[in-house]
Amino acid sequence: MAMIQFKDVAKSFKDVYAVKGVTCDIEDQEIFGLLGPNGAGKTTLIMTMATVYNPTRGEVVVDGHSASAEPDKVKSLIGISFQDPKYDRILSAREILQWHGKVTGVEKGVREKRIDDVLTKFGLAGEAKKRTWMLSGGTKKKIENAKVFVQRPKIAVFDEPTAYLDVPSRLMVWDMIDELRDGGTTVVLATNMMDEADRMSDRVGIMSRGEMVQVGEPARLKGTLKGRDVIEMKLEAPFPELVGEVKHVEEVKEAHFEGDLLKIALSNGRELLPHMINLVTAKGGKVQSVNLKEPSLEDVFLHYTGTTLT
Ligand SMILES: Nc1ncnc2c1ncn2[C@@H]1O[C@H](COP(=O)(O)OP(=O)(O)OP(=O)(O)O)[C@@H](O)[C@H]1O
Ligand SMILES: [Mg+2]
Repeated sequence: MAMIQFKDVAKSFKDVYAVKGVTCDIEDQEIFGLLGPNGAGKTTLIMTMATVYNPTRGEVVVDGHSASAEPDKVKSLIGISFQDPKYDRILSAREILQWHGKVTGVEKGVREKRIDDVLTKFGLAGEAKKRTWMLSGGTKKKIENAKVFVQRPKIAVFDEPTAYLDVPSRLMVWDMIDELRDGGTTVVLATNMMDEADRMSDRVGIMSRGEMVQVGEPARLKGTLKGRDVIEMKLEAPFPELVGEVKHVEEVKEAHFEGDLLKIALSNGRELLPHMINLVTAKGGKVQSVNLKEPSLEDVFLHYTGTTLT
């Protein structure tokens, strides 16, 4: 059985549906990337799973427990790094982590060790005593992520975990999420960063206007964009006659010259690359360099959502 089951989950705020009937399974120990433009419903969907919102329709089942019927049980399984953490101004970073570890049942000795470890990894040991309102946006985000790393829940949810973070910190968070999963945790990762989703996710779910429009492994989703590969061959000189020859190949959708660059749009570009080079060479073309462009996760995203990222 899947670790998380969304069964026709819908959530409206007054008469506006933020989530419009999502059915989707997330497997045990999977890293599931949740993608979607701003306002797509990612955070709302996550909140239904975390029992913060009760779905208007449908239900979420977490490790066999209904989030509506057994909210306390479900809550105890989940740790969330919120998109917009709001902190009590009085607490310090260390106090927040101590409190979080305590209420989520992490035993004291283990808790203190994990807190030291995560603060050191984030380079925050020196700031651990500062009141949180003094901290920078990126540092607050690190503390928010740190809560989950201290808790080590069965299911970890990260909502935009690397927004505001600098490059080394992003890499650190990615490593720590990988480590968490290797330790047995199922991870849901909502993000607007395509490189993050591509690097981290076993599977991604793409949301658009409250619906889950595609779910699959990043490589498989890229493969759904058939005919979107492009081979660019730089020749010694333009050679227009080659265009017709190249177009005879069944998989080729389009071909043209831009100066001495022959551009070929096709499906299965990777497999056909040697064949295309041989063909052009056999017809007298002198190939100087070759470049293969395959669809990126961003292309997949744009294709299925019809939007651009902000
Ligand atoms: N508490 C709320 N009350 C009313 N409307 C809400 C509430 N929370 C979210 N919405 C609306 O629901 C829709 C989905 O919002 P949500 O925050 O789930 O999107 P998101 O995919 O997480 O976006 P982002 O990438 O900006 O974080 C939006 O139209 C938003 O305005
Ligand atoms: Mg959000």
